[in-house]
Amino acid sequence: MAEIRRPDDMARITTSEQAEAFIQEQVDLVRKQVGNKKVLLALSGGVDSSVVAALLIKAVGQQLVCVHVNHGLLRKGEPEQVIEVFKNQMKANLIYIDATDRFLDKLAGVTDPEKKRMIIGGEFIEVFAEEARKLDGIEFLAQGTIWPDILESENGIKAHHNAGGLPEDMKFELVEPVRILFKDEVRVVGNQLGLPANMVYRQPFPGPGLGVRCPGAITRDRLEAVRESDAILREEFAKNGLEGKIWQYFTVVPDFKSTGIKDGKRAFEWCCIVRAICTTDVMTVTPAQLPYELMSHITDRITHEVPGVNRVLYDFTPKPTATVEYE
Ligand code: XMP
Repeated sequence: MAEIRRPDDMARITTSEQAEAFIQEQVDLVRKQVGNKKVLLALSGGVDSSVVAALLIKAVGQQLVCVHVNHGLLRKGEPEQVIEVFKNQMKANLIYIDATDRFLDKLAGVTDPEKKRMIIGGEFIEVFAEEARKLDGIEFLAQGTIWPDILESENGIKAHHNAGGLPEDMKFELVEPVRILFKDEVRVVGNQLGLPANMVYRQPFPGPGLGVRCPGAITRDRLEAVRESDAILREEFAKNGLEGKIWQYFTVVPDFKSTGIKDGKRAFEWCCIVRAICTTDVMTVTPAQLPYELMSHITDRITHEVPGVNRVLYDFTPKPTATVEYE
């Protein structure tokens, strides 16, 4: 199939009318491309793959097979939300795979950040390919490729992972219904498709997930401390009107313990670092200025509700010199 490009004169999609027109156009195109064949999609729950899923459910319904791989490094409530939205509400054909043990066993003792990324990426493809091989009659692979991905791969900034990096013998024709859209347009389209706001407008989240926020060798208990503290931070930011205002916010729990006191006893436990950043392009970043009262409350909750944490620190460092993530 010829590579589809964004027309130079294409208007930016900002309204629900424009989004509806785009959706109708893509539904027709996808139906024409796919016919009565089956389409496979790796559904991470991120904005792009979620919008592609919703669009394809509208276009081809049960001919779409979504595979959600839980690598154990997702945020609290994410796998549950994917199942609720796509399986229960949209009646998608969804295969849910809890591969937590597989990933965490492979990652045990691995400290090098790039090696951790490679293991997570490699294992993801392996789990997905295994599932794909169990399915009969799949001819198409849907991807949430967006226009900046194409531009960046053309400029040599990023490798565009065509066909998801699947093994050579697995040949699928690609279905990329949002490939000519910018991120903000994908969100407008997702909104129009009825996806929940917290899915469509969610903050960026790295592919290796909480794995890069549990610096050094990942252990299950420290990973839980990251997941629980992140959930508290997100809940408090949402309650206090900061959701959608702060670009990205999360917690990191390094493999380091310090002395503290809990219930009148010495508690030698981890510290939890809160990172909250403001930026427009993620090339340069400034730390968010947050209300003291709110930070005190968050500190209180994390130190009392998250097992193994006795201290909370705030990261005041801009990028440069620091990057957004710790690994
Ligand atoms: P850094 O840490 O490079 O992060 O300043 C910039 C933005 O990229 C995200 N990030 C990643 N996203 N896989 C991803 O999909 C990764 O390995 C990865 N590392 C960083 C980070 O969350 C931030 O938004």
